[in-house]
Amino acid sequence: MLTVWIVVLCHLIALLCVHACDRQHDQNAYGGHSLQCQKLDAAGLLTVDEWYAYFSIEEVHQVVLKSGTIDSYVASESPIAKAGVLANIGPNGAKSQGAKPGVVIASPSTSDPDYLFTWTRDSSLVFKALIDQFTSGEDTSLRVHIDNFVISEATLQQVSNPSGTVSSGGLGEPKFNIDETAFTGAWGRPQRDGPALRSTAIISYANWLRANGNSSFVANTLWPIIKLDLDYVASNWNQSTFDLWEEISSASFFTTAVQHRALREGAALTTAIGQTSVASNYDTQADNLLCFLQSYWNPTGAYVTANTGGGRSGKDANTVLTSIHTFDPSAGCDVVTFQPCSDKALSNLKVYVDGFRSIYTINSGIAANAAAATGRYPEDSYMGGNPWYLATFAVAEQLYDALIVWDAQGSLNVTSTSLAFFQQFSPSVAVGTYDSSSATFTTLTSAVKRFADGFIAVNANFTPSDGALAEQYSRNTGAPVSAVDLTWSYASALTAFDARAGKASPGWGAAGLIVPASCSSNSGGGGGDTVPVTFNVQATTVFGENIYLTGSVDALQNWSPDTALLLSAANYPTWSTTVNLPASTSVQYKFIRKFNGQVTWESDPNRQINTPASGSFTENDTWR
Ligand code: NOJ
Ligand code: NOJ
Repeated sequence: MLTVWIVVLCHLIALLCVHACDRQHDQNAYGGHSLQCQKLDAAGLLTVDEWYAYFSIEEVHQVVLKSGTIDSYVASESPIAKAGVLANIGPNGAKSQGAKPGVVIASPSTSDPDYLFTWTRDSSLVFKALIDQFTSGEDTSLRVHIDNFVISEATLQQVSNPSGTVSSGGLGEPKFNIDETAFTGAWGRPQRDGPALRSTAIISYANWLRANGNSSFVANTLWPIIKLDLDYVASNWNQSTFDLWEEISSASFFTTAVQHRALREGAALTTAIGQTSVASNYDTQADNLLCFLQSYWNPTGAYVTANTGGGRSGKDANTVLTSIHTFDPSAGCDVVTFQPCSDKALSNLKVYVDGFRSIYTINSGIAANAAAATGRYPEDSYMGGNPWYLATFAVAEQLYDALIVWDAQGSLNVTSTSLAFFQQFSPSVAVGTYDSSSATFTTLTSAVKRFADGFIAVNANFTPSDGALAEQYSRNTGAPVSAVDLTWSYASALTAFDARAGKASPGWGAAGLIVPASCSSNSGGGGGDTVPVTFNVQATTVFGENIYLTGSVDALQNWSPDTALLLSAANYPTWSTTVNLPASTSVQYKFIRKFNGQVTWESDPNRQINTPASGSFTENDTWR
């Protein structure tokens, strides 16, 4: 109807409906419009710029959706995104000269920001997408890249770096130089999602190889690489970590969730390889992670709080990325793993998206129930704190994943937790289960599809005419901002487009998981109640020197200097960490310094605290 109306209106005011696409100023400010313009010009209809002149952004989106422009954006952007990924992979990628084989550069940008490094997180997420394309048969030419990736990651695992060596925490190092040497500058480290994401990527390749008659390669070559990462996750998951945005050191939902996934699928592979005792430890720690994962839910706000530290609202793309990267199509709408169609994940999606409606100028005028541009988190100020392509694509992908499951199970459940999400599309909808033959099912799933497509449309509107995807686009004008050709942006387009086409990655064992009745810490400490204890110590250090904590209980590594807990220097000269310790317990501890392999203990006597029965506890000390 709106299309007809626009055409009629356009004829009435024909003189005004000139080809606005020719107006350079609009193309520059809204780079994305020109691509749309070309298509719409070709279609002989109004140009997008003309639409924007006369109609609200929401009306434009509706017309764009109806006119099939999303299909054409997906068709034109898919090969661009794929080429964008491949250009950033060494040794022969067009934009990654100097990168070793299989090394993924984050972006070719060398200043403001300098992203010519390889991050374990970005690389693993990118290669997971490529491995899925390979194993599904979508692109069999990728195997050489995948083999290169495995070799390069195995090399990086062994590179000693500021987080440690391969056996003393070095696997948590977030980024390396593209020639596979250590990056030694100051950084938010460790980031403990990396080993989990890397093992998930390699396990998905291993599972395919085993299913295709190459078990020996898996056992002899891939398994030792995977095991290093899984052992790291199994023994360190309960230690503080920088979040995926490299800013907050605490516990982080995305990190916990991807660690849980990695150990779960790692346990299955380990069992298949015949290492049952190792597998059993992975399962035990996966149970503990699943237990801990539940604690991020904020029942009052009806969303997932992304980090335990940081002092923000906690509304964060972290949580939406979790939903898509731990999607298991066989797990239905299971809430314990926050599956994309689970009521908590849908409620969370709404709260997260709504967090950006009033803060970005480019979202003004968009109806409260329509798609909008989203970023990392509302409080973000990095490079201006703008919308991110990969965040907005992730919202679309979560919704497409949900549609895949609702279609497969032939029904959709509205609960009191997801009611507000569904009421966006049907204000009168009631709590209940709607069979696929019902009108409500059709109404809701059609609306969710349109909503999802809307997020693609938002990114499409702000994609420049050459299809390049940077990291961000301006919250005020929509023009690309920050790192150009971000590999992760391109990969996020590919996975969202695949989900839109109904393609789901293989499952990882999320179906039917049950949260243990009580959570215990990772150190096998008997499963009693624990309380989070924050240790702060004022300590002046020289560059390369770090402060650790060890003490009298399992969670403090039983006085072992080798496995002592690394404190974060985020608030230097205050070093700190938060550890779950047994409640109502007298605990002795000391801080230690490590510098060039030399360990220095604090002077005697031991320090002592009595942990409370519940709540939390903070201890402030000064090095002595
Ligand atoms: C660089 C990190 O990559 C980015 O995520 C962060 O927001 C900024 N540093 C600011 O801390
Ligand atoms: C900054 C992002 O916050 C972080 O997640 C990413 O790993 C790096 N940029 C590299 O793309």
